Amino acid sequence: MKIEIIKKNINFGGIVSDINITEDLNSDIISNLDNKLNELCLLVFKKQKLNDDQQIKFSEYFGKIEGAGNNTTIRSMKERRLSDKFGDVSNLDVNNKPLKKSDNKRFFALGNRLWHTDASFKKIPAKYSLLSGRKVAKIGGETQFVDMRAAYDALSEEKKSIIKNLISYHSLIYSRQKLALDMKKMISAEEIKNFSPVKQPLVRENKITKRKSLFLASHIGKIEGMEKPDAILFVNDLIEHSTQENFLYTHHWDEDDLVIWDNRQSMHRGLYFNDQNEIRDVRRTTISGTEMLIDQ
Ligand SMILES: [Fe+2]
Repeated sequence: MKIEIIKKNINFGGIVSDINITEDLNSDIISNLDNKLNELCLLVFKKQKLNDDQQIKFSEYFGKIEGAGNNTTIRSMKERRLSDKFGDVSNLDVNNKPLKKSDNKRFFALGNRLWHTDASFKKIPAKYSLLSGRKVAKIGGETQFVDMRAAYDALSEEKKSIIKNLISYHSLIYSRQKLALDMKKMISAEEIKNFSPVKQPLVRENKITKRKSLFLASHIGKIEGMEKPDAILFVNDLIEHSTQENFLYTHHWDEDDLVIWDNRQSMHRGLYFNDQNEIRDVRRTTISGTEMLIDQ
């Protein structure tokens, strides 16, 4: 196994070669990959033709898979193409056809184009995400990642002390409101409850590397002790700071790429592609975090 670092200036991201992740992997290889994820945040594997079972098996080397339950999607089980071990990040309906332009499920999925970390709106936020490019867009559809440790390090000491103990509220409703979606019209009151905001710290520390990172997402709609509009502008400024070129890697997808990233220390978003004319079938497995960061 060989790892070539993508952004050497900040030690962010690696392209892993000389490995076949569809094979059985021993614990030394897995702990090496796990250490590299803590160090580099993001690993790219090329030419890994995975089926769903192989993706599940590889994912489970890193922890427990978080199912696509009630509070992550507005797709009901009968509207899903994939097993509930997967997050369906495609633009496809249950019959493998592109979702209609006016389909609420498409609108909801557009939230992936806003900067976020996966499942920060859950009491126990996600650890890793693994995205497999089964069919990728020919034009567009890239995924961008930013290193939130480098973004934190670059803040002034004054800013670091301001944000040190701040607590933010994350919900899928907040990010969808930024797209002018009226969730009350899209889903039932019962379903809205599943998206109740959860508290997260604005700064978190990696227990292994001891590095601090900004924990941001477009899912933030409120910060404790701030008026709402102030909080939104405050977060927008921090997102703008974090997404500057220095901290950014854009992944241009080839078919059969698998990208695994650490949601605890990075942020990402998908870029535009023509979702009416192109099929983009990318399948995500998500590894659960192990603890709540703040009592709810
Ligand atoms: Fe995501």
